[in-house]
Amino acid sequence: MNLLIKNGRLLDQDGTRAGDVRIADGRIADVGESLEGDGAEQVIDATGLVVSPGFVDLHVHLREPGKEEAETIETGSRAAALGGFTAVVAMPNTEPTQDCVEVVDFVREQGRRAALCDVLPAASITVGRAGTQLSPFGELADAGVRIFTDDGAGVQDPLLMRRAYEYASDLGIVMAQHCEVARLTDGAVMHEGACCSHLGLPGWPSLAEELMVHRDIELVRLTGGRAHLLHLSTAGSVELVRRAKADGLAVTAEATPHHISLTDELLRSYDAVYKVNPPLRTRDDIAAVRAGLADGTIDALATDHAPHESATKEQPLDSAPPGMLGLETALGVAIAHLDVELDAIVAALSWKPAAIAGVEDRHGRPVRAGEPANLAVFDPAVEWEVVPAELASKSRNTPYVGIALTGRVRHTIFGGELVVKDGTARR
Ligand code: DOR
Repeated sequence: MNLLIKNGRLLDQDGTRAGDVRIADGRIADVGESLEGDGAEQVIDATGLVVSPGFVDLHVHLREPGKEEAETIETGSRAAALGGFTAVVAMPNTEPTQDCVEVVDFVREQGRRAALCDVLPAASITVGRAGTQLSPFGELADAGVRIFTDDGAGVQDPLLMRRAYEYASDLGIVMAQHCEVARLTDGAVMHEGACCSHLGLPGWPSLAEELMVHRDIELVRLTGGRAHLLHLSTAGSVELVRRAKADGLAVTAEATPHHISLTDELLRSYDAVYKVNPPLRTRDDIAAVRAGLADGTIDALATDHAPHESATKEQPLDSAPPGMLGLETALGVAIAHLDVELDAIVAALSWKPAAIAGVEDRHGRPVRAGEPANLAVFDPAVEWEVVPAELASKSRNTPYVGIALTGRVRHTIFGGELVVKDGTARR
């Protein structure tokens, strides 16, 4: 495809400037002012729009194989493309688990065949995510897996986790921890605090997260391994990471759009659409997570896009599964809820997660001639509300109905192809 994007505001790690972008043969062919289109080109008018590197989501549940009734690699990647993402890390809590080369290869192949963005399969830390035996890290690393996680659960055994970090140090792979001490959250449905006490519901203490954040930081200190801490939600976690980074440890962290925008008070409705793991926390936690993003303690915004069939989310709070959609609303939530410059938001959505995922050679690249054409083109100012029936995801469990969002993706270019045009996926 030969494409010309006219009159955009280019935003990347080099700063902001006006310009046109010509794309040919999967790459940015030219960047400059007043580029002329010839007859063969498709021209996009980006007046008032930002042209940035495409976004990279470190944390997405695509549900294939195993739960295709909730999402597939095709539908999830379509939601991703509509959100401006050109690469997503696919979580391994599939059925079967992504704990061996065969399953990882299946996900990657499905991605190549059906997806509208790059699908980067993560693999589990332990076989079957059962927490007792390490997955074959060497084979999986040779097969191109970079991120390992038992997401949905933390690895409880500290000795097993010590060994995992030792392997991480040898193999150059990343252990992405879901920080939750399970003994402290058994049966919990929401954040443990005033609201939870008032409702008389079993609570999920902040300490359950912070204990494992602390343990894993110390294991990194001991082993020289590399940790990425998933979906941090408490003020205490942010402070622990801030100190670990000040100590120079190889620790990165992410936060979700919902943990910078929604509080535990929403559970007063008893609506399981607001049940998520880790749970929605308090205003003070939200302020701390936002401050962590603002000062770089938290590296990346990652959605934890977790589709669930409506019937499962309509169950009572104690039996409904945790999780909420995130791909199509991430940018709109970030701009509406973060009091930082736009380049900091794009950094947290694009080049910083690209580096953590190890795809910085093809994603999150500057908007420059010669670079791979993976780009998001978005309106940073438009206000909108999500309409669940219009989502590309197979599931409908968005918590943002009736909440104003600011900023929306208009076009997404993946591998030089215009996969989203005017807010509509082209395949
Ligand atoms: O809310 C969540 N849902 N948190 C997780 O860690 C897992 C995810 C899921 O798979 O549904």
